[in-house]
Amino acid sequence: MAKPAAVAHGGAGAGPERQPNIEAAVSRAAEILSSGGSAVEAAVESCVILEDDPVFNAGTGSVFRTDGSVLLDASIQTSDGRMGFVIAMGDTPNPIRVAADLLDEGINGLTALGARKWADERGFPKGPVEGRPPHDEVSDTVGVVTRDKHGSIACATSTGGCSDRPPGRVGDVPLPGCGFWVQECVGVGATGIGEAITRALLSYRVADRIASGMGLEEAMQWALDETIDDGDEVGIIALGQDGPGFGLSNRPNMPWAAWCAD
Ligand code: GLY
Repeated sequence: MAKPAAVAHGGAGAGPERQPNIEAAVSRAAEILSSGGSAVEAAVESCVILEDDPVFNAGTGSVFRTDGSVLLDASIQTSDGRMGFVIAMGDTPNPIRVAADLLDEGINGLTALGARKWADERGFPKGPVEGRPPHDEVSDTVGVVTRDKHGSIACATSTGGCSDRPPGRVGDVPLPGCGFWVQECVGVGATGIGEAITRALLSYRVADRIASGMGLEEAMQWALDETIDDGDEVGIIALGQDGPGFGLSNRPNMPWAAWCAD
């Protein structure tokens, strides 16, 4: 049996005042995992709490694209090799639920109108997502990595996209290996400037180092130092086969929290 655990972040740039909000999401994951729930269930329900919290740039609190639209990306991956992601999805308050619906399908990802059509056919709630204008203190992305008592790991991420991005732009969150990566012994989620994260294939490279025996913090520090330019704000969370998860950013303002069963 593994020790259940969870780690979550509220985005590079979100600021320490969001710490209680992140702890609420981690508490929800802990509750699910402690009562025998799966890593997937815990990651999704914890991510939904963050999507529903208007202080985060995901779901309800997503920042407007440059044309005023609100378009959402979300992704989920599991340590048993399943994956789901949605890109630039409108009118969907909880895109992580649609991404999770793809875990057991023959396709991995859906975009824009196709994603919404799928959601309509499956009965996922449709409605305007309020969003908000970008400003300096707007956070970027939410993410949760969980491990259940069977040792299964899941990573869920969600975002309205970095500030000042056009409607067709694709960030790191729905791109495998970039904003998220999970393999048998480790799960990693990233936050920050999506273009920098994507160029670095950041989550995959951190996971690869951890899978090769490097510690969580050491692998994250290596990635931030060696693959990300100093000017690009980026954060990472990760959780391995045992022990608690960890979070690290190249700025001091990424709220993150971790829980691990005794
Ligand atoms: N990291 C979120 C984005 O670049 O869209």
